[in-house]
Order: sequence, then structure tokens, then C-alpha cells
Amino acid sequence: MSRGDDTATGMVAQVVAAVRRGAAYRDLDAGLVHRVAAAELGKGRGFKAAVKATRNKLHQVAGAYWGARVEFDAWLAALVAAPEEERRAVLRTLLAQHASTRERLPFVESFYATVLGDLPPIRTLVDLACGLNPLAWPWMPLAPGAVYHALDVYGQQAVFLNRVLALGGLVGRAGTWDLLAGAPPVCAEVALLLKAIPCLEQLDKGIAGRLVDEIAAPVVVVSYPLRSLGGRAKGMAESYARHFDALAAGRAWRVTRFDFPTELVYRIER
Ligand SMILES: C[S@@+](CC[C@H](N)C(=O)[O-])C[C@H]1O[C@@H](n2cnc3c(N)ncnc32)[C@H](O)[C@@H]1O
Repeated sequence: MSRGDDTATGMVAQVVAAVRRGAAYRDLDAGLVHRVAAAELGKGRGFKAAVKATRNKLHQVAGAYWGARVEFDAWLAALVAAPEEERRAVLRTLLAQHASTRERLPFVESFYATVLGDLPPIRTLVDLACGLNPLAWPWMPLAPGAVYHALDVYGQQAVFLNRVLALGGLVGRAGTWDLLAGAPPVCAEVALLLKAIPCLEQLDKGIAGRLVDEIAAPVVVVSYPLRSLGGRAKGMAESYARHFDALAAGRAWRVTRFDFPTELVYRIER
């Protein structure tokens, strides 16, 4: 390694450390922070500008989905205290704490029944860039005691999800995984990659095909948002339908399309 490489590596480490001093970034997957910091420094930015740009990018792809208060301990306590018949209502309240699942709430009951209802009860599922979606487990056609791999980029979120999944009698395997590093080494009957591709493409334009090819599951559900976080919707359905058609072209997939009010969904079987 040359002295120049050493200096660049040291600079990335300093930017990563500075970014992670902010409370909102401390719990993020270190590999993702490192990747974004290196990319921002690679654009020729100085230290301060690289810290700011790294935080902005991480906020856009992950932080912006959360509400003002993220209170995993209180959320878990509310769930534990809820009698069985009220658990779904509490889960609905919690699903509303992340913008992506909040948007799906009005049709969460029909979503999984429509997209996965004809499959045998699912024994292993991997939910990639999952957000709080694992909290929708009661609406999914899962086998009793199913193994639920829930992967995203926040450590405390993973701890919380494992506890919640255990409450549902499921085997929670939540953890952090940066999908920009590739698909995780997990085999499952069904993989969910819901509304994640636009986020991932902000950092790697060519990721979608490579990632879906790498996912070790015979059924992969890929979806796209039909509204931006800011509420704009114009042209998104057409543009993402074209995105998926390009992805599927030349791949031997059986594809079923489902149109929900704020989400365009494709089930891939291969
Ligand atoms: C639009 S949300 C979708 C959440 C969930 N799949 C759903 O549909 O409810 C995008 C998610 O991607 C996660 N994310 C962003 N970059 C990621 C990365 N490089 N690897 C894994 N997850 C990532 C964010 O933390 C966020 O939870």
C-alpha cells in the first residue's frame, strides 16, 4: 500500500468516525457508512463537506423513513402488555412508525394474501432492507415456527425485531446487512425486496439485476413505491414498470404483477 493509499484510508476512517458521532448515525451498519464516506471523498470533497454529504445520503436512504421518535423499548413493552386479541392493533400502530410500512397499512391485510396466499405456508422467509415490515407477520402466510430473516442497516432495530418475532412464535433471525455488498448468505423459500431498489440505486445504479440474481430463494417479491417520501407520484408507475421490464428481459422468470394503491409488486418464480 502506498503512502497515498494510507492517507486516503485514514481520511475515510476519520469521516466515518465523525459521521457516527451523530446520534442518528451511531447505530448504522459500519460497512454502509464506510462505503458512502469513501464514495463522497472520492468525489474530491474535503473532510467537512464529506461528513455532511455522507450524512445527507444516509438520511435519504435510511433515516428519512423514521418518525421523530424511535422508541424500541417502549414499543416492545406495549406489545408484550397487549392481550392477544389486541396485538394486531398494536402492531398496526408500530407499522406506522416507518414511512414505508405506514403507506402499506391501508392494504396490509390483502397485500400478503394476494401476493403469497396461494403458496404452501412459508417455512423460511428473508426480508431484505426490511424496515419495520417484519411486524406485519400476522398477515403473512407463514408456517407456525417459521424462520424469519429480517435484514436492514440498524443494529437496535434488529434486536427489537428478533424480540417481536419471538412473541409471534417465529424464529427471528434479524441482523444488519448492507445489500450494496451483495445478497446475504441465506437460503429461504421466499425473499422480499420491498420498495428497496430505488434506495439502493441511489448508491449503485446497476445493483438491481445483480442483487436479484444473487438472492438464494425460488420466489422473490420485488416492489416499487408509487409515491415519493415527499408525496409526489407522477409517472412513477410507468417508470418503475419499465425498470422491472428491463430487469426481467432475458431472465427465465415467471412473473406475476400486482397493483396496489401505493405499491407496484412483482412476484418472480424461478
Ligand atoms: C423504502 S424502505 C423499505 C422498507 C421495507 N422493505 C418496506 O417495504 O416496508 C427502504 C429500506 O432500505 C433500507 N436500506 C437502505 N440502504 C440499505 C442498504 N444498503 N442495505 C440494506 N438496507 C438498506 C432502509 O433502512 C429502509 O428500511
